[in-house]
Amino acid sequence: MAASIIDGKAFAASVREKVAAHVARLKDEHGITPGLAVVLVGEDPASQVYVRNKGKQTVECGMQSFEHKLPADTPEADLLALVERLNADPAVHGILVQLPLPDHMNEDAVINAIDPAKDVDGFHISNVGLLGTGQKSMVPCTPLGCLMMLRDQLGSLSGLDAVVIGRSNIVGKPMAQLLLGESCTVTIAHSRTKDLPAVVRRADIVVAAVGRPQMVPGDWIKPGATVIDVGINRIPAPEKGEGKTRLVGDVDFDSCADVAGAITPVPGGVGPMTIACLLANTVTACARANG
Ligand code: GUN
Repeated sequence: MAASIIDGKAFAASVREKVAAHVARLKDEHGITPGLAVVLVGEDPASQVYVRNKGKQTVECGMQSFEHKLPADTPEADLLALVERLNADPAVHGILVQLPLPDHMNEDAVINAIDPAKDVDGFHISNVGLLGTGQKSMVPCTPLGCLMMLRDQLGSLSGLDAVVIGRSNIVGKPMAQLLLGESCTVTIAHSRTKDLPAVVRRADIVVAAVGRPQMVPGDWIKPGATVIDVGINRIPAPEKGEGKTRLVGDVDFDSCADVAGAITPVPGGVGPMTIACLLANTVTACARANG
């Protein structure tokens, strides 16, 4: 193995330490405790795990956690009314509505009902616009975590070729905007991209966010490139016993690690950074709200 392994777990712990120190300062100097409200609609098991982890880490950093669990058949108007209450609540500095929402709800309408100053996901249309025009905004947590790891690994990213595989609103598009902001030459590749291997082979930075297990093999990677794997996919692992599964990313870790300069593992790479950045965004929102 040639690549160095980027330890997202340790990096996230250091981000959480800084968040906790900032929280302590806000309490001491201004008497304010940052608060994060998380709204979960329905009983999706993966979402329940994320929400539990978010709540736990919020409290561990010294912040207040407000959890709102609504049944899957909640009318959209009731969710919008809850969002309005949270917008008006001075103890709530960050609001996250866990996605996906049930089919009968309009996700865009719900996200855009959140006060942009409390939109710690950075999904509100005005935060998307601010990011796209290089203005101060709330930055989506997963791409922000990826950028922090890239900066830590590489220092300046200026002039580097970056390929983002995946064009989602949550990861691919904001990731591309952030890399553009760092003066990278950015390509967004996706399922219709012609000759994807050739496109990826040009890249000094590869960010894979497609949700397809082990899709990127090592022979697509330019020697020495930095590979950030956003994917979290569960696949069968018969070697661990019948019916067992394991987590893998969107890149084939072993073959990519032979070629890359640095690579994030799954689990323990991007995943832990996402919640750490959510906590960081909440403190930022609180500090901005209080001058
Ligand atoms: N579901 C999966 N990832 C996310 C995220 O980053 N934010 C929200 N709100 N929902 C998600």
